[in-house]
Amino acid sequence: MHFPRVLSALLATAILPLSVLGSIQIVPGASWTTVNAPYQHIQAHGGGVLLVNGLYYLIGENKLAGSAFQSINCYSSPDLVNWSYVTKLLSVGQGHADLASGRVVERPHVVYNEATKKYVMWLHIDSSNYGEAKTGVATSDTICGGQYTYLGSTQPLGFQSRDMNLFKDTDGSAYLLTEDRVNGLRIDSLTSDYLKPVKTVFLFPEKYTYEAAAILKRGNTYFIFASDQSGWDPNDNIYSTATNLAGPWATWKLVAPAGTKTYKSQTASVIDINGTAVYMGDRWVSSNLMRSTYVWLPLTISGTTASLVPTPVLSFWSSTNPPQNNQVNWVLNQGSWSPGTTETTYEAEASANVLAAGSKSVDCSGCSGKKSIGYIGGSPNGKLTISSVSSTATTQTTIRINYTNADSAQRYATLSVNGAKYIVAFIPTGDDNTPGTASVTVRLNQGTANTFVFEAYNGGWGPNIDRVAVPVS
Ligand SMILES: *[C@@H]1O[C@H](CO)[C@@H](O)[C@H](O)[C@H]1NC(C)=O
Ligand SMILES: *[C@@H]1O[C@H](CO)[C@@H](O)[C@H](O)[C@H]1NC(C)=O
Ligand SMILES: *[C@@H]1O[C@H](CO)[C@@H](O)[C@H](O)[C@H]1NC(C)=O
Repeated sequence: MHFPRVLSALLATAILPLSVLGSIQIVPGASWTTVNAPYQHIQAHGGGVLLVNGLYYLIGENKLAGSAFQSINCYSSPDLVNWSYVTKLLSVGQGHADLASGRVVERPHVVYNEATKKYVMWLHIDSSNYGEAKTGVATSDTICGGQYTYLGSTQPLGFQSRDMNLFKDTDGSAYLLTEDRVNGLRIDSLTSDYLKPVKTVFLFPEKYTYEAAAILKRGNTYFIFASDQSGWDPNDNIYSTATNLAGPWATWKLVAPAGTKTYKSQTASVIDINGTAVYMGDRWVSSNLMRSTYVWLPLTISGTTASLVPTPVLSFWSSTNPPQNNQVNWVLNQGSWSPGTTETTYEAEASANVLAAGSKSVDCSGCSGKKSIGYIGGSPNGKLTISSVSSTATTQTTIRINYTNADSAQRYATLSVNGAKYIVAFIPTGDDNTPGTASVTVRLNQGTANTFVFEAYNGGWGPNIDRVAVPVS
């Protein structure tokens, strides 16, 4: 049942004082661990999200072991925060030369064809030096029920194509958005089965170097988003609008404040989640691509304007030191969104915490208090216990853990919250002085008696923990 928000808030207060909705949060740029095995940071880069029968499916590139093709992965979630690993949709050695190891297989995008009842995936297919510049197509009867059937690749309409995307219009027609480096960004119509391009309905002539396009339709307005070309490094992404895919398209404008480099991200996908436009970008880390994170931010759309404005203006905003995100964390409600709630932070090195079995305070110049707690896990199973964590409600809530991990691979920890165990992955941070953030959704009890214990997962070493931010409610 769907109540207006004010009424549901009243009901929650009157009838269910201990149950608060909407405290689970999207934390852009954090390590996102799946709630099932293998409990890793999500590897679905450069992809997109589809809603099928009440579950969201995230499909993207696996970059666990570098840039070359490993697999196209699928994850599912009921709420875009709690993600489960589902399966690989394409893998190395699937019997096609395009999918051999060492190849480039990037930017998978899937649309559903009502007439053929097939899920149709288009991807960027290339040689390791990006010289082939082709698009590939694969199909399946199910969104993520298993391996897709790979049909092969071509240069669409005979033109180069690299960072590409798909757009399915409200009338059921679908389009390939393709980066033709010689001539410009193209919108190509597809055949009714979505398997082949028919013709270019628009070629953006302004600049030849826009890529990674994504289209969102709002009412009768099409918004196209794209990035400039700067390799794995981010740039200030741009957008344009039209009321017809064949144009005319308005002059390109910046989607985020100049200099933020789109909050250090590149467009992968822009989708509507029950009325909230959500920008889904990739924050690529070229030195170790598995460290790349998902910068999902609420996009404010008004008329023909789309912007990733800082709303509200964040206290740490300054033009010389722009923030990493326009929201540190945010809540997707039914039909709206809100910034993350007030938080209490708990320093790992606070004297009230209990260190056991070898865990100890270590220096960390970038950490709050310049200290973190290291030697968690490992053979003595070092532990960090933070007691007296407070919450005004008994609720599921998303906490943010600031940490360092100087390894080149993920570290893991088991976090027990009042005895319930959560496995958390911590992607590398490059060194032990520059903290990153990991998010995990846990169940807290109302009151001030919640206890967090960080310890080993599978006997391995955990990260160094700097501090933990816990929503007040
Ligand atoms: C959006 O609405 C659909 C259909 O009512 C629902 O299944 C889905 O859970 C909603 N999404 C979110 C994030 O609330
Ligand atoms: C996460 O979502 C799955 C469904 O995908 C559900 O079974 C599970 O209970 C959810 N877990 C939490 C903690 O919400
Ligand atoms: C966590 O680290 C990030 C990145 O260094 C920083 O922006 C943020 O303020 C830190 N948060 C907390 C709660 O310490």
